[in-house]
Amino acid sequence: MCPIKKILDLQQVGSTVEVCGWLRTKRTSKNCAFLIINDGSCQDSLQVVCAKDSDCHQMTQGLVTGVSLRVTGTIERSRGEQTVELLAIAIEVVGKADGYPLQKKGHTLEFLREQAHLRPRSNTFGAVFRIKHTAALATHDFFAGRGFYWLQTPIITANDCEGAGELFEVQRGADFFGKRSYLTVSGQLQAEAAALALGKVYTFGPTFRAENSNTTRHLAEFWMIEPEVAFADLNDICLLAEEFIKFVTAKVISECVAELGFLEKFYRPFSIATLEKLATCEYRRITYREAINLLQRASVKFDFPTTWGVNLQTEHEKYLAGQLFDGPVIVTDYPKKGRPFYMRDNDDGETVAAMDLLIPQIGELLGGSQREERYDVLKEKITDNLDWYLELRKFGTAPHAGWGLGFERFVQYLTGMENIRDAVLSARARQLLAF
Ligand code: 4AD
Ligand code: MG
Repeated sequence: MCPIKKILDLQQVGSTVEVCGWLRTKRTSKNCAFLIINDGSCQDSLQVVCAKDSDCHQMTQGLVTGVSLRVTGTIERSRGEQTVELLAIAIEVVGKADGYPLQKKGHTLEFLREQAHLRPRSNTFGAVFRIKHTAALATHDFFAGRGFYWLQTPIITANDCEGAGELFEVQRGADFFGKRSYLTVSGQLQAEAAALALGKVYTFGPTFRAENSNTTRHLAEFWMIEPEVAFADLNDICLLAEEFIKFVTAKVISECVAELGFLEKFYRPFSIATLEKLATCEYRRITYREAINLLQRASVKFDFPTTWGVNLQTEHEKYLAGQLFDGPVIVTDYPKKGRPFYMRDNDDGETVAAMDLLIPQIGELLGGSQREERYDVLKEKITDNLDWYLELRKFGTAPHAGWGLGFERFVQYLTGMENIRDAVLSARARQLLAF
């Protein structure tokens, strides 16, 4: 069996190969029948030509979009084009597809969401998943190249890292573990223990939020990438964030040419130029105080207030990164009130050493902080029973910092999908557990 990607890349005209895939479309002309077959190995499909009066031609008659096929044929140069096609010798139907719901082209994303188990077979989702794969491998490349160790932090936990109470409780937890337990909202706290031993670590795994937010950028289950660095401060991790986004974006641009080309063609206003900008432009830095001043001076009317101390809302974030700076912006030094206990207090007594990276259209792409490494200060702020976490400050404490990035949110931007539910195989969100 030969992947279509290999056939199209190598163009070994004259050789005989066997291809397995799914029928996308069928066209019949006077002399031949043409089958367009895709096997998922690449964005492009392969054209199979069945000469008239051949057995193959006969058998194409009953074929409908969606059937799975095994085709043996000879690779030939396509007429007039610098590409190849397959001249069929034998065709076998592996699986029928009567009543297949994705018969025609150009379904809306809403329709495809209702066919979530079949949508990976569409050009759009093929592109999304191949880009996601490239971004995931680029993530590991990036960190490995900088001496980070990949960690698997627990999924079941007793702590609410963010303190926002958005936890899914594990039903049998209390009987089983002897205490109440939850699905983790972040691997950060455990990653800190590892960073204060291995120096530079990162997590890349599932996290869960029982948020009430039914928005285009929230999922109940998503994957988070969380680097944590010992002997690092806020500035160090702002730089790390910028380098990371640039590295992964550049990798996707160079490796997913066909996928991005397809998405650019069908999803306006998504453009490769926007990604090129993300991969190369300067990331602005402003403090929260400056952000508030800019919002107050904006000519736009916001739904939420813009007084010092409020949380920046998505509308504010999109205004800053979209309309005002038209590019990525890192906001630092947020008010202390309402921020998680682990963020390091600044000397002004009002703010913490936190950062959020905002990008156009999405708003917050990642968020992090320098961690409170001073035992006495942390002890005052901590409310949960987190003795082990406090002990990290008692035994060889060190300044350290890190951030968390929602992988699907990033993939959303890399693919131009307007809804985060289109950046996962099978979405879990409020009132939705797809398949
Ligand atoms: O801002 P958050 O809540 O920060 C943390 O969890 C820290 N413990 C991270 C750290 O410092 N190690 O979440 C981090 C990122 C957000 O910026 C966003 O990209 C993503 O996770 N995120 C979500 N993505 C999809 N659906 C949701 N419900 C998300 N909630 C957060
Ligand atoms: Mg955040």
